[in-house]
Amino acid sequence: MTGAWEWSYEGYEPDEERLREALCTLGNGYFATRGAASETSTGGPHYPGTYMAGCYDRLISTVQGRKVENADLVNLPNWLPLRYRIRPVGADPGPWLSPDHQHLKEHRQTLDLRRGTLNRRTVYEDGAGRHLDVEQCSLVHMGTPHLAALRTAFTADGWTGSIEVEAAIDGDIRNTGVPRYRDLSNRHLTGWSTGTGQDGVVWLRCRTVESDIGFALASRTVATSGGPGRHPERSARHYRPRQTPRQVFQTLVLPVDAERDAVVDKTVALYTSRDRAIGSPLRAAVAGVRTAPDFAELLASHCRAWAGLWDRARIEVPGEAGRILRLHLFHVLQTLSPHTAELDVGVPARGLHGEAYRGHVFWDELFVLRFLSLHFPEVSRGLLDYRYRRLPAACRAAQQAGRAGAMFPWQSADDGREETQELHLNPRSGRWLPDRSRLQHHVGSAVAYNVWQYCQATADTDYLHSKGAEMLLQIARFWASGAEWDASLARYRIRGVVGPDEYHDAYPGAGSAGIDDNAYTNVTAAWVLARATELYRDLPEPRRRTLLERSGLDPAELERWEDISRRLYVPYHRGVISQFAGYGELDELDWAAYRKRYGDIRRLDRILEAEGDTVNRYQASKQADVLMLGYLFSPGELGGLFQRLGHVLDDETWRATVDHYLARTSHGSTLSSLVHAWVLARVHREEAWTYCEEALTGDVVDIQGGTTAEGIHLGAMAGTLDFVQRGMTGLETRDDALWLSPAPLPQLSKFGVRIRFRGLGDVDLGIRARRLRIAVPHSHHPAVRLVLGGHTHVIAPGTERWLDLPTGRRSDRRHGKGRQG
Ligand code: BGC
Repeated sequence: MTGAWEWSYEGYEPDEERLREALCTLGNGYFATRGAASETSTGGPHYPGTYMAGCYDRLISTVQGRKVENADLVNLPNWLPLRYRIRPVGADPGPWLSPDHQHLKEHRQTLDLRRGTLNRRTVYEDGAGRHLDVEQCSLVHMGTPHLAALRTAFTADGWTGSIEVEAAIDGDIRNTGVPRYRDLSNRHLTGWSTGTGQDGVVWLRCRTVESDIGFALASRTVATSGGPGRHPERSARHYRPRQTPRQVFQTLVLPVDAERDAVVDKTVALYTSRDRAIGSPLRAAVAGVRTAPDFAELLASHCRAWAGLWDRARIEVPGEAGRILRLHLFHVLQTLSPHTAELDVGVPARGLHGEAYRGHVFWDELFVLRFLSLHFPEVSRGLLDYRYRRLPAACRAAQQAGRAGAMFPWQSADDGREETQELHLNPRSGRWLPDRSRLQHHVGSAVAYNVWQYCQATADTDYLHSKGAEMLLQIARFWASGAEWDASLARYRIRGVVGPDEYHDAYPGAGSAGIDDNAYTNVTAAWVLARATELYRDLPEPRRRTLLERSGLDPAELERWEDISRRLYVPYHRGVISQFAGYGELDELDWAAYRKRYGDIRRLDRILEAEGDTVNRYQASKQADVLMLGYLFSPGELGGLFQRLGHVLDDETWRATVDHYLARTSHGSTLSSLVHAWVLARVHREEAWTYCEEALTGDVVDIQGGTTAEGIHLGAMAGTLDFVQRGMTGLETRDDALWLSPAPLPQLSKFGVRIRFRGLGDVDLGIRARRLRIAVPHSHHPAVRLVLGGHTHVIAPGTERWLDLPTGRRSDRRHGKGRQG
């Protein structure tokens, strides 16, 4: 039976193995290792990968005669290898066993979400009736982030003899996890050396080719238990470790019989030259593994660390949806944990779970930070700092593009330069095509939005008035410098961009790249300009002076910002908001015909290109673009923003807009179903659940067909958690209060979440039977103000309250009647 805290796979399915490896990844926000079987190595169904947050390396490859440079999240030396074979008395040793071997009889693996372990039971049987039962438990320590451990217990049945166990650290590793990148250089490790200590500790060190990050891994493998009264270490035979230039092996032979099981514990420590408070990575790794407690103690402290995390980010949803959400939370926390807050890393779009998108950082933090800020604000702040440290690079990029302010890259990795590739491969046609996605300058607005929302949720005014203000102002400045006045429209325009949709990267037949007046880009730019102006005016004088000195800003610029924020162009066609200027003149696609012909048309762009056509000709979107506005802003806020821009966004226009794009979106990104679920929950409730289900199952059933095996979709995973936390409750954190406007779907009408709000932890919110429960813990904090259905409730610390959900519509839900943007 599969429990609410378990994620299990019964039987071994080679075709699914890479997907399972991704979904069974273990990590702690510092590093993560895919859930590969320890007996296997790279190739065929297996891809054991270990990735360290923020560790990239750059290599040059030649593609179609052109030199291209790529920064990759580096696949590190593999610490997992541990293989075994049986040595029956009086017979030759058996073959090395693995799930691929024909002797495999049973196989079950379970991710224990509560304890953060991956447990595997594998049973082998040879032709002579000899059974070997292998139980394995692995962990990547959540408390001491440099440690990982693997316990393997062997039980023999029907034979007597010994088990030969070979444990290794394998440094002969390349980045080969994504078949599409096969033509690119992939050897990121160099300078290997291996060694052994007198006490049986073995080690390997190496470094990355270009970024010159040093790594050291040390490992200790011991026999730990042989049944009551026995001394396993004395009865086990250890062989002298074997070294090759890139690998180091340890061999143990352990007696087994009917009364005597054999248990082997492998403990590993991993350090890099970027770690603080160490002498050298090697010294730290060797000392780390020598002083590490035994497996039982490691497991206990690991579970305690996880219990602390689960407590801070409690989310209770009944049934299968709740189990999937717990898995999502597990992977979010394994990628971005409190350990991450100590590092210089951003939000990797595909987690630390695979090599898709090379571990790069996109705008996906937009879907992650609002969730995190209400539980682990220190992690959000660390992730914002990743952007802040790259503000100078963003300012240089803007300058090189002839603009002012900060132009954040669409894809970011180590030093903040633009990492988006120049060419991308359409696997359907085999053609390398120009990649213009770097024109998605809206990523800057996402950074600004995250800064603002983090500060709203945490009351971290210090951050808002220092690094936050600097980022916001430089991003606003970038938008202002790109806005051109068009006298014929009497509007400002932002031209030559790509919106979130990505399919439209040029007008049909146009010689230049990009489209004009992307509504999402313009409205979010208007929001940034308005926020930045407001923030600048609210800044205490000394802060304002510092900011002016640091940014070289001329206060006169602000008047123009104010003007642009009110007069940016938002195109419309036939009563709906246009995705961009000219969108309404594009051809309609025969969706039914394409669905009939191809079945899955999520990557319509690739299908059309392979047909010699281009998606640029059609009213067809990859993912939510205009509708993203309904994801970022509450109806009231969005109405206010449009009002500020001189438009009335009434319910009718918004509904017509939603209907228009709903019928013209292929959902080629996992983010799309999430945003649609969010928006539809307030517009077409009956349709919302379908999209919600799709967002929930996106990774677990690999909806995008093979992509999850190359890394989870972190934005969508975190987004589903936020869908419950904020989407279903309508939770907003502003003006020092919790604003709630619940609209639970029938399928999610009962749930509970625990949040941290403006420094006050453990605030429980729950919905059940159309009633809302709020419980505020005992503390010296002031009472929590909660606004529900237009009424303000004051909840004192140490009390709980049940409130009836308002019925019908309220003014704060209506478009066009909200606050001024
Ligand atoms: C989506 C982007 C997203 C990226 C990384 C792409 O497929 O279109 O919106 O940022 O994946 O997740």
